Amino acid sequence: MTRYDKDQRVPVTLTVNGREYRRWIEPRLLLSDFIRDELGLTGTHVGCEHGVCGACTILLNGTPVRSCLKLAIDVGNGHITTIEGLVKDDEFDALRQAFSENHALQCGFCTPGIVVSVWDALKHASDSDLVDWEDVLSGHLCRCTGYVGIRQAIKALQAKEGGEAKA
Ligand code: FES
Ligand code: FES
Repeated sequence: MTRYDKDQRVPVTLTVNGREYRRWIEPRLLLSDFIRDELGLTGTHVGCEHGVCGACTILLNGTPVRSCLKLAIDVGNGHITTIEGLVKDDEFDALRQAFSENHALQCGFCTPGIVVSVWDALKHASDSDLVDWEDVLSGHLCRCTGYVGIRQAIKALQAKEGGEAKA
């Protein structure tokens, strides 16, 4: 295991939302803090900081991960997509519209993480009606909505895709 001095900074290169960033950072810097504080991408929210609430979920090399559970130096050369990156995708509008029309958020604190996971599930399911939405949502704590609107939004999205909703 590499040992670092207390005040040592190390170089890290990460590609975030298609843009490469090079920074000198403290080895202990969490990926969530790197994204928010070093890059100013505050759409990634930080709640519990120990992997429970799911608010900090981002895509790392195409897979949803809790960014509060990773050190930035451990994902060197990784490709990250945050909520700011998703909204640039033309197909994102349908998801945004479904969440909006179905009142799938109140304070919105949990929303970026949930949206990242829902987006990933929809993208990777060959058949979206086979997605276990209870499993997807079980990774996210929302203190406002009671999940009713979130499930309705997912159903609306699936209906648009022609899938049978189970959310
Ligand atoms: S802030 Fe990362 S899971 Fe809660
Ligand atoms: S909308 Fe407020 S925590 Fe989910």
